[in-house]
Amino acid sequence: MSTIYFFLSILKLVVIISFIFILPAPSAAIDTEHVGKRLNVPASYVAAPYYPTPHGGWVADWSESYRKAALLIANMTLAEKTNITCGSGYDMGRCVGNSGSALRLGLPQLCLQDSALGLRNSDHNTAFPAGITVGATWDKSLMYARGVALGAEFRGKGINVFLGPTVGPMGRKPRGGRNWEGFGADPVLQAVGGALTIQGVQGQGVIATIKHYILNEQEMYRMYSIVQPGYSSNIDDRTLHELYLWPFAEGIKAGVGSVMAAYNAVNGSACSQNSYLLNGILKDELGFQGFVMSDWLAQISGVPSTLAGLDMSMPGDGLVPLLGDSYWMYELSRAVLNGSVPVDRLNDMATRIVAAWYQMGQDKDYPPPNFSTNTQDATGPLYPGALFSPSGIVNEFVDVQDGHAIVARNISRDAITMLKNVNNTLPLSTNSSLKIFGTDAQKNPNGINSCSDQGCDQGTLGMGWGSGTARYPYLDSPMDAISSRASNVKYYNTDTLPSGLTASSSDIALVFINADSGENYITVEGNPGDRTTAGLNAWHNGDALVKDAAAIYSTVIVIVHTVGPILLEEWIDLPSVKAVLFAHLPGQEAGQSLTSVLFGDVSPSGHLPYTIPHNESEYPASVGLVYFELGQPQDTYTEGLYIDYRYFNAHSIKPRYAFGHGLSYTTFSFSNTEITAVTPLTSTPPARPAKGSTPTYSTTIPPASEAYWPAGFNRIWRYLYSWLEKSDADAAAAVASTSSYAYPAGYINIQKPGPPAGGAQGGNPTLWDIAYTISVTVTNTGNFSGRAVAQGYVQFPVGIAYDTPVIQLRDFAKTNTLARGESEVLTLNFTRKDLSVWDTVQQNWVVPSVGGNYTIWIGEASDALTLGCYTASLGCRSGLMSPV
Ligand SMILES: *[C@@H]1O[C@H](CO)[C@@H](O)[C@H](O)[C@H]1NC(C)=O
Ligand SMILES: *[C@@H]1O[C@H](CO)[C@@H](O)[C@H](O)[C@H]1NC(C)=O
Ligand SMILES: *[C@@H]1O[C@H](CO)[C@@H](O)[C@H](O)[C@H]1NC(C)=O
Ligand SMILES: *[C@@H]1O[C@H](CO)[C@@H](O)[C@H](O)[C@H]1NC(C)=O
Ligand SMILES: *[C@@H]1O[C@H](CO)[C@@H](O)[C@H](O)[C@H]1NC(C)=O
Ligand SMILES: *[C@@H]1O[C@H](CO)[C@@H](O)[C@H](O)[C@H]1NC(C)=O
Ligand SMILES: *[C@@H]1O[C@H](CO)[C@@H](O)[C@H](O)[C@H]1NC(C)=O
Ligand SMILES: *[C@@H]1O[C@H](CO)[C@@H](O)[C@H](O)[C@H]1NC(C)=O
Ligand SMILES: *[C@@H]1O[C@H](CO)[C@@H](O)[C@H](O)[C@H]1NC(C)=O
Ligand SMILES: *[C@@H]1O[C@H](CO)[C@@H](O)[C@H](O)[C@H]1NC(C)=O
Repeated sequence: MSTIYFFLSILKLVVIISFIFILPAPSAAIDTEHVGKRLNVPASYVAAPYYPTPHGGWVADWSESYRKAALLIANMTLAEKTNITCGSGYDMGRCVGNSGSALRLGLPQLCLQDSALGLRNSDHNTAFPAGITVGATWDKSLMYARGVALGAEFRGKGINVFLGPTVGPMGRKPRGGRNWEGFGADPVLQAVGGALTIQGVQGQGVIATIKHYILNEQEMYRMYSIVQPGYSSNIDDRTLHELYLWPFAEGIKAGVGSVMAAYNAVNGSACSQNSYLLNGILKDELGFQGFVMSDWLAQISGVPSTLAGLDMSMPGDGLVPLLGDSYWMYELSRAVLNGSVPVDRLNDMATRIVAAWYQMGQDKDYPPPNFSTNTQDATGPLYPGALFSPSGIVNEFVDVQDGHAIVARNISRDAITMLKNVNNTLPLSTNSSLKIFGTDAQKNPNGINSCSDQGCDQGTLGMGWGSGTARYPYLDSPMDAISSRASNVKYYNTDTLPSGLTASSSDIALVFINADSGENYITVEGNPGDRTTAGLNAWHNGDALVKDAAAIYSTVIVIVHTVGPILLEEWIDLPSVKAVLFAHLPGQEAGQSLTSVLFGDVSPSGHLPYTIPHNESEYPASVGLVYFELGQPQDTYTEGLYIDYRYFNAHSIKPRYAFGHGLSYTTFSFSNTEITAVTPLTSTPPARPAKGSTPTYSTTIPPASEAYWPAGFNRIWRYLYSWLEKSDADAAAAVASTSSYAYPAGYINIQKPGPPAGGAQGGNPTLWDIAYTISVTVTNTGNFSGRAVAQGYVQFPVGIAYDTPVIQLRDFAKTNTLARGESEVLTLNFTRKDLSVWDTVQQNWVVPSVGGNYTIWIGEASDALTLGCYTASLGCRSGLMSPV
């Protein structure tokens, strides 16, 4: 990572230098500093100012942590406060991010580390299944259990801040490179996966980071440089609230300690300095009490990002890393001394960070880092990014795996989604004659960790590529597991069917294919993160491999490891293709999780976390990738609420496989369905609670001496420090009284009471009042034991004044393993928010028809809904025609 990144940054520098002379300077007439260059943003999309940053600490759940933080902050010098709000520089410590410390007061450097599926660049850790796999389980207890295990591993390595979960991208663009890091193409699936991960991780005392805030739906052109701004995601207010913001709101409600601002812009203003998104929506409406960090090098300004609500810069460097430059650190010290950044803003930034540290109990017995993201060696440079670095022990190889492999395997197993199974071809007998094809069935022959950040598609695909990965401690491949169970196996480790094969009628061909994607800084087989070259097809001629096998063998079973939807049309209806299993991205536990389904130890119980189309033209054109554009690439969300199944349903397109689809070896019946009204609804939520008090500090600019370099300090070259030369600090202080800083339009530094839609973490707390519960008895009516998922979709009453998708997932539950004939009662909850729309005029969640007749559909897939409950008559009926 570090070496790759170093070369990339040099490359970036070269590109910048060569372009700077070619392109005209941006126009100075527009407020480019605070809002961004509005080069070609459609005029109807506005990035409105929202100032000031709401002070943190007004939510009761956090008041004790803020009380403690305030005592500490009150004793901090200016240089200590500016130190803790910024990273010490790229590659300047053991972790991917290392914030400055205030050791005098007992606050250590915080260690921030990837990834959302396990410890990146480390050892003796678990490589968990990816988010998309977790989403496919539809199992809340496994989502939580993975969070607990992740938290334990991160704590065990001494990490303060876990850089996950990923709930954005949402999966709006099927070709988007990092969709697999999140939980599926639906706000509720993302929200539940994200919130339960946060609860699990933070329960171990580790600060979780929900990311990437927001609308980072593709990889290419996401980053700002001097040459070009990152793309602008242009979105209307209702779509933002009802789709993309939803999982962030749930994560904040779960108490998440940190939010990561994305690289891209929204409505023309970069997320890392978009005051409307950070000050307004995140910290006022959603009541976020933790701190906002930038994505790595996503900060593009000093004072503007500070005023807009950014609290921590990561990894701390300015435009070009590794030069010792920063927008903050010493510059933030200067900006406070010269009066441009109000003292209360810096105090709030620092307080939010220290409060999150107390909130997770990290002031008590928290281990320091004992691994290095930079090397697998025991010793190495302590500051690899420095020109001259002392060396020392950087990796103690602490084994943090504990029993987490079992959680990982259970998730990979219970995510396996059976799309097709003609005539009960599956499960197989272990004595079947198995002919196995595809390089995906066996480990990468060059080594399971031979590609940095998994930046290649060789062998079993257990995860995508980029910073959202972990090194494998081992990889239980499908072939490892199959050959240890089955007696009659022949493996062809190739993606081309060998010539001259003959088949006997009892032969069963298992064909392994995959589709990969990842983060933009690595290009794999022509795909720069997003699936440009590969499109939505299987990689390595997977379609041909299946077709060729199907031409010879009368029974073909296709096993797919994939980051998202792939097109199946070339072979799905071939008579020989009897069964298809999507095993998603299983992480290290690819083998036994699969054989337990293949050989019938368990029934498959996964369900698709996205729709599989017949072909790509079934999607709206606006969810295609955006490409190079002079000025700023524009990504306009004209499809509004209609992504994935919402779009297919609105346009009466029957997909190949619907969202939520997934077969079992057994069958289930749903009976005794009952709907109960709990909290009566009103048109808008009851008035929000008023904000509680927040810490108060002196707002006097501190003396310049608080920022002077200490005498005789031994500086590490390129390391980022918060001190200034005495002459610089004095000069900054001298202009303070006459400061003529050009504040952005709409800037004002008076705290507000907050909008009606707010009131607690996540928003007005009454949004989570349960309006209705539905209980249903699920009975296993088949011949196998198995697990069923009850999916609950809301259909709004007819005739309301808001155009709304036909059905929207609002809750789900999964049974335990039910033996033949066994039953379990599941209860699904539907809140006020679930039954509301975001009204852009009222700026609030509105029940569009109080007393209106909602239908709440319960079923095993979005296209198999025959059981409906009505909120007006409080009755449920079965045998209905599915609404889609
Ligand atoms: C983007 O612009 C639209 C149209 O003006 C507006 O409704 C929406 O609130 C804006 N969103 C953000 C995040 O600025
Ligand atoms: C802050 O400083 C005061 C006075 O020097 C001291 O009594 C107090 O213990 C300090 N608090 C912390 C949290 O360091
Ligand atoms: C800032 O953090 C670094 C790294 O821990 C430390 O060396 C330095 O002394 C800190 N500066 C201040 C002002 O405490
Ligand atoms: C590494 O982690 C262990 C277990 O969490 C902890 O006890 C130890 O102090 C850490 N080692 C170092 C050198 O920080
Ligand atoms: C104060 O310092 C900051 C950081 O260097 C700078 O951006 C800003 O323009 C300065 N303000 C004044 C009034 O000089
Ligand atoms: C894993 O699944 C098995 C059932 O197959 C169950 O007995 C066990 O408790 C599960 N363990 C975890 C940690 O989920
Ligand atoms: C399923 O099995 C039946 C009975 O053996 C057979 O008639 C039918 O053709 C099979 N269907 C398929 C699609 O193979
Ligand atoms: C495989 O084993 C089953 C019993 O488990 C037996 O019924 C079947 O005949 C065997 N098939 C072969 C091909 O040996
Ligand atoms: C519904 O809420 C009840 C009570 O809070 C809870 O026990 C149950 O698990 C919830 N159901 C689901 C599916 O989350
Ligand atoms: C709600 O809608 C259902 C289905 O159309 C209908 O049977 C029921 O009577 C309606 N209830 C009321 C109170 O309108």
